[in-house]
Amino acid sequence: MNTSQQEPGHPDPNQPDPNQPDPAQIDDPTEPDDPNQPDPAQIDSLWPTPGTAITDDVLLSRYAVPDRSHPTTRVNFISSVDGAATSAGLSGALGVPADKRLFDLLRRLCDVVLVGAGTVRAEGYGPMVMDEQQVAWRRSAGLADHPVFAIVSGRLDLDPASRIFTEAPVRPIVITTGSSDAAARRALDAVADVLVCGDDELDARAVRAALTAHGLPQVHCEGGPRLFGALAAGGVVDEVCLTLSPMLVSGDAGRILGGALPGDAPLPLRLAQVLRSRDALLLRYLLAPQ
Ligand SMILES: NC(=O)c1ccc[n+]([C@@H]2O[C@H](COP(=O)([O-])OP(=O)(O)OC[C@H]3O[C@@H](n4cnc5c(N)ncnc54)[C@H](OP(=O)(O)O)[C@@H]3O)[C@@H](O)[C@H]2O)c1
Repeated sequence: MNTSQQEPGHPDPNQPDPNQPDPAQIDDPTEPDDPNQPDPAQIDSLWPTPGTAITDDVLLSRYAVPDRSHPTTRVNFISSVDGAATSAGLSGALGVPADKRLFDLLRRLCDVVLVGAGTVRAEGYGPMVMDEQQVAWRRSAGLADHPVFAIVSGRLDLDPASRIFTEAPVRPIVITTGSSDAAARRALDAVADVLVCGDDELDARAVRAALTAHGLPQVHCEGGPRLFGALAAGGVVDEVCLTLSPMLVSGDAGRILGGALPGDAPLPLRLAQVLRSRDALLLRYLLAPQ
């Protein structure tokens, strides 16, 4: 009997398994960061197309949607490995340089940045302004200089005199429900387009329809969890970008998705891309059309 002949599916223990990574190529986490990787925002691509130190242009082309006229909602979150969306009440402590890099690039691709008022207040959002390089890129891509900033609020506890409105390069949008305070709506009308989407509860499909009617079909949502929950429950989320921050947080921090899904039925996701920056993973998942 030829002992070197192996049954199918039983690799020769004396030969390297071609399906396993070469141990010499696996980072030892106890080793200091590779000095040949000085850029902390460097992003490598693991799957489906491997690549090292991929450029902004490559990232932008990978995240570009095939048909910009077709309404698309992409949400972008960061979470610790144990599922916390915040540490000490904010997402910033979870951040890694590559996440900030991708965060800015994803904004560049959209027509409108959609954010819940809770996140605007907690994270201290200012006006949605692209820098010169971003504006130049958007112009060359045939996009408006700046995406529109759209804020979702039920209570309309938003100050019309805040920089979000007074220093906005394009008139922001405030999305609310029919039960919101009429006087607050009138006050915000002076500085923003106020869209009513739903009576007592936010109607996610009406949000998509209203933004599309405004000429803003490419929606980039930066959270927070309650808004993501409403969009997911309403069946209008197409893509979830998740940075897995190499941290354990514990405590009572919430997760990235708030509220309940219809029938408590989980929504399946399809993995579209895995990027890596040092110890963080930048994952891209797609939802089946609903
Ligand atoms: N890890 C991450 O990537 C990430 C991303 C974003 C935010 N966060 C964190 O998430 C926390 C905020 O969570 P959150 O769930 O409160 O955020 P949120 O969804 O941004 O804010 C909730 C508020 O936004 C308005 N809103 C959102 N969805 C609504 C809906 N369906 N109907 C009516 N109003 C709606 C309401 O504003 P009014 O109160 O004005 O009615 C509501 O109180 C912060 O600590 C923030 O740092 C983390």
